[in-house]
Amino acid sequence: MTAAASTIRIQLNKPHPAQAEIDKCESRFIVAVCGRRFGKTSSIVRKRIRPLLGGMPCAYFAPNYKMLQEFWRQTKSILAPITTHVSKQEHRLEFLGGGSLTMWSLDNPDSARGQKYACADVDEAAMISELEEAWNAVIRPTLTDYEGAAAFWSTPKGLNYFHTLYSRGLDAQFANWASFRFPTSANPFINPSEIEAAKAELPEDVFRQEYLAEFIQGEGAVFRNITANLTDAPTTPKDHQKHVLVAGVDWGAVNDFTAISIVCETCQREVHLDRFNKIEWDFQRARLLNALNEWDVRLTVAEENSIGSPNLEALQKTSTRSIIGFQTTAQSKPPLIQSLALAFEQNEVKWIADAIARRELEAYEATRNATTNRIQYSAPSGFHDDTVIARALARHAMEERKRHSWTQTRIRIR
Ligand SMILES: Nc1ncnc2c1ncn2[C@@H]1O[C@H](COP(=O)(O)OP(=O)(O)OP(=O)(O)O)[C@@H](O)[C@H]1O
Ligand SMILES: [Mg+2]
Ligand SMILES: [Zn+2]
Repeated sequence: MTAAASTIRIQLNKPHPAQAEIDKCESRFIVAVCGRRFGKTSSIVRKRIRPLLGGMPCAYFAPNYKMLQEFWRQTKSILAPITTHVSKQEHRLEFLGGGSLTMWSLDNPDSARGQKYACADVDEAAMISELEEAWNAVIRPTLTDYEGAAAFWSTPKGLNYFHTLYSRGLDAQFANWASFRFPTSANPFINPSEIEAAKAELPEDVFRQEYLAEFIQGEGAVFRNITANLTDAPTTPKDHQKHVLVAGVDWGAVNDFTAISIVCETCQREVHLDRFNKIEWDFQRARLLNALNEWDVRLTVAEENSIGSPNLEALQKTSTRSIIGFQTTAQSKPPLIQSLALAFEQNEVKWIADAIARRELEAYEATRNATTNRIQYSAPSGFHDDTVIARALARHAMEERKRHSWTQTRIRIR
């Protein structure tokens, strides 16, 4: 590394191939989900070396003081050749060219309020219990002045807010987020026999989480056996001529998505899954009708609550297709969801292997209401359930057809 007239050398690890992918990524917000010992922590300085040398203020956030200390020790020695000032008390290093790196422990997130950074790295983000608040109220605002970048580096810990951030990186709606997921074995400097030994010793779920970097579902998970029910094989309306197709529709409000799932009853597979938001209602209805016409859908079940009802009326006026409403209530929702869960258990229908829809299924949970003692089904806070509901309604359409033999006649319901 050159600075001023003389040459100063600092020693950074050459990235291994998986690290190089993350190094190269230019998205403003990055979520790196990696197994233990992947080389997360040692990637941070390498990823930020340019802004640090370019005079920018950067910040590192650790879940606790002990991890901060460890990073402080490592980083101080690696960057010593370019360091001009060391503040042990503030855990702050200043560099040639005016850049700085300040380290914070999120034991007390509020202490970082009021700072300005060009880059923020959150190490072991999944371990931070109040990650959502720390990000929204503290870390995110520190990036405003510089329109700064952030990266979250962590091994997963169940389906918590880190998982929500990971989903963002997979979602085309969040254009400036990118997500990566790598197992421990992606680090060639870790002996594979060590990983084998861990596999033999650890409970399976723990191994999958810690070494394979998988998001493991909690106790209350509703949908099991998800992978076995997914299909990648693309299909077109031509493949389903003369087949019976049904659809489920969940309308989205301002912050939600509208989701449409079309299932071929004859083939027992989902053929079309669409998810979109923030679009005018007439546009949404047109998009739905388009899909129903393209796939020649026999029966559609659409959510009827609040915004659903006027949409349904408008649809029934403009289309001759059978479209019926479903009123979601505390009584009607459990059997709707249980029926879809059963379909997954029994591997009845193949569903499109869409990353976001898969996350929604994995996260969907059953909780027991303490007052009524009833089981309630919902997405955990921070999660959407649009595709889950659309699929449950498509499945309901299949059952409705069985009940009423819709095959006989095409009737129009008003
Ligand atoms: N590019 C690299 N070149 C050489 N060694 C590396 C590289 N990346 C990581 N390592 C080594 O792999 C080990 C794990 O690295 P690091 O501590 O950065 O991983 P981590 O994912 O943060 O681990 P932990 O899960 O324990 O926090 C260390 O011994 C580190 O020196
Ligand atoms: Mg680490
Ligand atoms: Zn078919």
